[in-house]
Amino acid sequence: MRLSTEQLDSFEKQGFLVLENFVSARQCENLRQCAKELVRDFEVPGQTSIFTTNEQTRHSDAYFLESGDKIRFFFEEEAFDPKGMLVQEKELCINKIGHAMHDLNPDFNSFSRNPELAEVVRDLGMQNPLLLQSMYIFKQPRIGGEVHFHQDGTFLFTEPLSVKGFWFALEDADRENGCLWAIPGGHQNPLKSRFFRNEEGDGTEMEIWDDTPWDRNQAIPLEVPQGTMVILHGKLPHMSEANRSNRTRHAYTLHLIEADADYPDWNWLQRNSKLPLRGFV
Ligand code: FE2
Repeated sequence: MRLSTEQLDSFEKQGFLVLENFVSARQCENLRQCAKELVRDFEVPGQTSIFTTNEQTRHSDAYFLESGDKIRFFFEEEAFDPKGMLVQEKELCINKIGHAMHDLNPDFNSFSRNPELAEVVRDLGMQNPLLLQSMYIFKQPRIGGEVHFHQDGTFLFTEPLSVKGFWFALEDADRENGCLWAIPGGHQNPLKSRFFRNEEGDGTEMEIWDDTPWDRNQAIPLEVPQGTMVILHGKLPHMSEANRSNRTRHAYTLHLIEADADYPDWNWLQRNSKLPLRGFV
């Protein structure tokens, strides 16, 4: 076992688990370098996609909807001035890269499929895990957007619910540069909404089951040093504030689901049959 009974109990009770020193400084640097190269080779298109989890309807463009089995680039909401020009250099305007870098990029593949993580996932009780989604999140200086409270199960739904998030701090994350916040124990509440593809398949909608807002006063900041892995239960309410500091807050995230759970075809993230989901092998 890689996780102790205390750690497993804590995850069960709190809905999250913080493991410091899970990733070496060298691995963090390697991933940062890879992301840098991906952005360097990315040409800013005329028609850009802006990623914001706060205005879900804006997600519905094809560039986003087709990104489940690709490596695509999404801008910060505040990346453009009124004339449509980038407010700072390209490297400081990308919000995130997603959503299949763990299958398509050799470095992200080997980082994501490391034996230590596989062990932790097994300790958490996942029987037949599949690596569903990966994201490299930049949380850029000054314009890094806020992500409102949400439960990951809203966006990555399975029946029964099985999604777990694995969030790797590639840099120190604190309140100043927009660290994660979570409501301890909040995962014991049911899922409040589901984000789904419309029947035409060309747009998305949000179905709200419970519109009571999450209580911000119950949330605690997860200020963590570089190299920390934070595990998030699929129903845990979590958020992060805007980054108004002059520092970045790079993080890499992976979302895993159980192969045996039903994955509806109305989930926004769909895979081409040529790139099926895989586990750790
Ligand atoms: Fe999330």
